[in-house]
Amino acid sequence: MNIRTIAQIKNLKNKAVLVRVDYNVALKKGKIMETERIDRSLKTISYLLKKKAKVILISHLGNPGGKVLNEFSLKPVAHYLDSKSHKPVIFIEDCLGTKAQDAVRKLKSGQILMLENLRFHEGEEKNDPKFARNLSDLADIYVNEAFSVCHRAHASISAITKYLPAYAGFNLANEVINLNKLLKGFKRPAVAIIGGVKISTKIKVIENLLRRYDYVLVGGALANNFFVAKKLNIGKSIFEKEYVKLANSLLLKSKGKLILPLDVRVAKKINKTSEIIKFNIADLVKVNMKNYQIVDIGPKTENYFESFIHQSKTIVWNGPMGVFEIESFSHGTNFICQKVSAHAKGPAFGVVGGGETIAALDKLKIKSWPDFVSTAGGAMLEFLEGKILPGIKPLLK
Ligand code: 3PG
Repeated sequence: MNIRTIAQIKNLKNKAVLVRVDYNVALKKGKIMETERIDRSLKTISYLLKKKAKVILISHLGNPGGKVLNEFSLKPVAHYLDSKSHKPVIFIEDCLGTKAQDAVRKLKSGQILMLENLRFHEGEEKNDPKFARNLSDLADIYVNEAFSVCHRAHASISAITKYLPAYAGFNLANEVINLNKLLKGFKRPAVAIIGGVKISTKIKVIENLLRRYDYVLVGGALANNFFVAKKLNIGKSIFEKEYVKLANSLLLKSKGKLILPLDVRVAKKINKTSEIIKFNIADLVKVNMKNYQIVDIGPKTENYFESFIHQSKTIVWNGPMGVFEIESFSHGTNFICQKVSAHAKGPAFGVVGGGETIAALDKLKIKSWPDFVSTAGGAMLEFLEGKILPGIKPLLK
């Protein structure tokens, strides 16, 4: 997959460059909880500044639904960027209108301007051509540095590319190169570990990887759907009823490539004081699970999954193995995190991704990160489904 990148732009001097970043970060009382996405955009920003371009940053934050809501303001991000980029960041409280236009007019080469949340306008999520056209009027060139939103056909991702020459930023290009390596020309055995809660968002990835990979290991609440398909009793554990039939058909046609947990940790309540009991999966037909829910994979599963990790030459991991936010339910996720990171740092090509997966890496202070850590959630999954994302299509050579 070959995409046009900013390295191919011949002359950037005095050009106004509209850079679509993904600064959709978690904020708590105005404090940014995780800065990785912002930090990764700095390389593209500094490159543009060095080439004497005028940098105009646009992003969304949260889902304000076309309304101006203070809690979704990008102002705290502008402050953070100001301190990180060692350049003053001019912030304007709208992404369109006369204030934005004036600020762009006054912007000098080598300066950074950040505009307010795109999703304060309805046109953004509607991929409205008029909204895109108005945004494009602010600049000479468009750069997409927001891989993690490329699965959304929104105005600042898709429609805008009709009005401006479009290029990929360095981080977006890096995401595409590394995720592409997971789908084409990869070494075998290839192993995917998919966890998390909602099978509805991951079933297509599981399907696609089952077609291509040697093993797909499923953990977290996702596995519950397969347990129900196998007529096991999962008590109060969460699952998605409408996906059980599909889970069953995947099990039947997976020819032993779909690997499920051998045992689980269960608890009565999702809190840190709740007692943990371990059950073998085979016993879930006879034990009384009425008051219990599955909160983590069990120790036998950890060792079983490790045997697949150990033999892999290509490995991808997305999604926790249980309710890892609660310390006592995080054993399985931490175990997988450590094993995947170590193996991917060593003999295998390894990629991990998704907000929760990064949170697990951070929490454990893993020093030797895998070959690549994607900051994308939904976009990574849709890429691994084998789709050409709406944000990537216009950047293809
Ligand atoms: C993400 O955090 O995955 C992206 O910023 C996309 O956000 P969205 O799911 O609100 O579109």
